[in-house]
Amino acid sequence: MKGKPALFAILLGSLVVSSAEAAITFIYPAPKTQVKRSDYLILKMNNPQITGIRITVNGLASDTMLIGSPEYRKAFQDLVILQPVWDSGKNEILVEGFGGEKVIDSASTEIFFKDRRAADVPATYKANAMHVLETEKYCSPCHDMNPTTTQMDNNLDKKNPCYGCHKKMATVNFVHGPAGTFSCAYCHSLKDTPKYKVPLRDAPLCNECHADKEAEFKKRKFLHGPIEAGMCEICHDAHGTNFPSQLHQPINELCLSCHESVGAGTHVVRLSTGGGHPLKDRPDPSKPGSGRELSCVSCHNPHGGDVRFYFQNNSDDRMQLCQMCHNK
Ligand code: HEC
Ligand code: HEC
Ligand code: HEC
Ligand code: HEC
Ligand code: HEC
Ligand code: HEC
Ligand code: HEC
Ligand code: HEC
Repeated sequence: MKGKPALFAILLGSLVVSSAEAAITFIYPAPKTQVKRSDYLILKMNNPQITGIRITVNGLASDTMLIGSPEYRKAFQDLVILQPVWDSGKNEILVEGFGGEKVIDSASTEIFFKDRRAADVPATYKANAMHVLETEKYCSPCHDMNPTTTQMDNNLDKKNPCYGCHKKMATVNFVHGPAGTFSCAYCHSLKDTPKYKVPLRDAPLCNECHADKEAEFKKRKFLHGPIEAGMCEICHDAHGTNFPSQLHQPINELCLSCHESVGAGTHVVRLSTGGGHPLKDRPDPSKPGSGRELSCVSCHNPHGGDVRFYFQNNSDDRMQLCQMCHNK
């Protein structure tokens, strides 16, 4: 603790305040909130006797993790930053604080993880807000919570003020260009409220940099429903995902989330086996050597086209489409 008297004072200060606080505070996600990412669980231990913790999520308990060592305390003081894997939907969280072998404090709450598979969020869960004063005050002793515009324009990842806490965004397989260069401030406003709000959304935002797409879509005779409505984020993530083109899901799952009946029916053909045309798990013969698999976009352009059903290559009729792959 030598050399850091200011931090020590803050720690003591918060301990005095904490007599009215619960022994363990959920900082992120805040109690009874919904989150879109399964990234961190941030807790504050208000009892210095706690040397270990165990987290139970929906009945599944972790090992006991030690937080009492001087090295740990020096780096993180009374904060615990964990990387949980939430279940889709409701998560009941129990945190037990150990003093030696004994549980001396515990706290519980529930949060809702709204991933793509989750059902509608019950109204009891509010949206989580991290960048509000009452939460940021826990971080500002060690992290710069109010970077200047000049600092924000520093795109050499580690130097960017958002990098330290949001670097996980750049660890997915397909990172969106401007998120990869930590140009966060291009889309997130430093002036609006709530803090870091995104003032422009969907097509008006995307078109600023993808004008070629806008021009292409304007020329199309038929536009796919969500494109017509200017919705880009419903399929693409602005930061990145593990799927090509930063899609939220693998292509077929994405399409079938709105076109459920296609998966169940006999799409394109009715085979003697009773099933329909294969839709996946085969190489795509129209793109030999590309390593691409058959999917909805082997036959349909996902954005639109000049023919009904937006067939690839603007194939005029079924026969022309079939010949893309069955030309022998
Ligand atoms: C006592 C100092 C301290 C406080 C207070 C603090 N942190 Fe940190 N935090 C650190 C250190 C040290 C690291 C590790 C070095 C780094 O990656 O910058 C870190 C790293 C992180 C990371 C990255 C973890 C990873 O590697 O994936 C996140 C996220 C984070 N902090 C969030 C927060 C939030 C949110 C708050 C406020 C609620 C907070 N921290 C308060 C010291 C602190
Ligand atoms: C001290 C760590 C920390 C720093 C520094 C930080 N964030 Fe965050 N931020 C978080 C955590 C934790 C969350 C909640 C988890 C999430 O949504 O990813 C969050 C959430 C957000 C959200 C969602 C809205 C909200 O308030 O919950 C936005 C937008 C955001 N951060 C943008 C930024 C930008 C832009 C920067 C750089 C100027 C930045 N953050 C710097 C930790 C941090
Ligand atoms: C191309 C535009 C764009 C860029 C660049 C961008 N964001 Fe975002 N960000 C968005 C949009 C759009 C949302 C959704 C806003 C909402 O849901 O309210 C969002 C939401 C978020 C959220 C809330 C959680 C989530 O996943 O929706 C966080 C955290 C966040 N951004 C952090 C960052 C950070 C950190 C950077 C820089 C590495 C960054 N963003 C760069 C457009 C962008
Ligand atoms: C600040 C400029 C900027 C904004 C705003 C922006 N993009 Fe991008 N986008 C890029 C850059 C740069 C690349 C990477 C270079 C490339 O492949 O064209 C990229 C790449 C992409 C790709 C992958 C292209 C490929 O060939 O795999 C998709 C998909 C995409 N953006 C969609 C979007 C969507 C959807 C939005 C709106 C939410 C958006 N972009 C907003 C700059 C931007
Ligand atoms: C219905 C889902 C869906 C919507 C909505 C959507 N896209 Fe896409 N987009 C895709 C798919 C799927 C791909 C990948 C195509 C492929 O791999 O052949 C893609 C690819 C892209 C690419 C990269 C490849 C290319 O075609 O140049 C860009 C850029 C892009 N989309 C921009 C946008 C913009 C801008 C919007 C909003 C106006 C938008 N998308 C809306 C599904 C969608
Ligand atoms: C967010 C919901 C949504 C997603 C995701 C989505 N679609 Fe659509 N799709 C629509 C809507 C809305 C329409 C227009 C209404 C209609 O004609 O059924 C439409 C229409 C279509 C049509 C034309 C139907 C007709 O009768 O003319 C095709 C083909 C199609 N979608 C294919 C796809 C493919 C391929 C994907 C995946 C890349 C996809 N859709 C993803 C909502 C979606
Ligand atoms: C092998 C080519 C091929 C593939 C792969 C394919 N389609 Fe189609 N799709 C067609 C043809 C051809 C039609 C025109 C209707 C017809 O003639 O059966 C069509 C029509 C549609 C329609 C409008 C009519 C209807 O049935 O609702 C939708 C929506 C659609 N497809 C979605 C999808 C989705 C989602 C996938 C992926 C799960 C997919 N398609 C995969 C060839 C294909
Ligand atoms: C994007 C490429 C592609 C297009 C376009 C396409 N197919 Fe196919 N088709 C395939 C692939 C791949 C298979 C699986 C071949 C295999 O299993 O060896 C297949 C299989 C079939 C089968 C089943 C053969 C069997 O014995 O299992 C029929 C029938 C068929 N397609 C008819 C059509 C018709 C009709 C059209 C046009 C409406 C069409 N296909 C368009 C790629 C395509």
